[in-house]
Amino acid sequence: MLPEIQIIYASTSGNVEAVAYKVSEVLDKYRIKSNLHRADQTDLRTITANKFFIFASSTWEHGIINPYFDPLVAEINESDLKGKYAGFIGLGDTRYEPINFCKGIEILQGDFIKSGGKQIGTLLKINGSPYKILDSIIVDWTQQFNLQLRQYV
Ligand SMILES: Cc1cc2nc3c(=O)[nH]c(=O)nc-3n(C[C@H](O)[C@H](O)[C@H](O)COP(=O)(O)O)c2cc1C
Repeated sequence: MLPEIQIIYASTSGNVEAVAYKVSEVLDKYRIKSNLHRADQTDLRTITANKFFIFASSTWEHGIINPYFDPLVAEINESDLKGKYAGFIGLGDTRYEPINFCKGIEILQGDFIKSGGKQIGTLLKINGSPYKILDSIIVDWTQQFNLQLRQYV
C-alpha cells in the first residue's frame, strides 16, 4: 500500500498554498493520499506520527524561512528524525533577494537532515509567482517525487 504524505506549508499571500494544493491534487492522481497542514497549526506530533512529508515555504526578509514555520523548525531541531523522509519546495523572488533566494527552505532542509531525516528527490525552487507553472513544473516535480518515494516505501 502506498503511504500517506503530510504536506506542511507556510504561506503569507497564498503563493505557497497554491503550490501545496496542486501537489496534493497531483499525488491524488497517483492514488497517494496527502494531508495539507499549515505550519503554524502543526506541531511535532504530526512529524512523530508519520513517515513521509513535503515541506513547502516561502523566504522572507533577506533569507529567513516564513515565520509561520518558526515553532515547528525549533521542534525539528530538538528531535531525532531517523526514519522520516521529506521532499522540499521553496518559493522566493530574486527581485527581492538575489543572494538569499529561497534560503528559507534550504535552512529547513538542512535542519531536517541534521536531525536524521532523509531527503526525497530534489529541492524545487520557484522564482516569483507560481501560478503559470502549476500545470508544468509543479506536475513534473510531483511526478519525480512519486517515483523517488517508491524506493523508501
Ligand atoms: C518583504 C519581502 C521580503 C522577501 N524576502 C525574500 C528573500 O529574502 N528571499 C527570497 O527568495 N524571496 C523573498 N521574498 C519573496 C517571497 O518569498 C515570494 O514572493 C513568495 O512567493 C511568497 O509566498 P507566500 O506569499 O505564499 O508566502 C520576499 C518578499 C517580500 C514581500
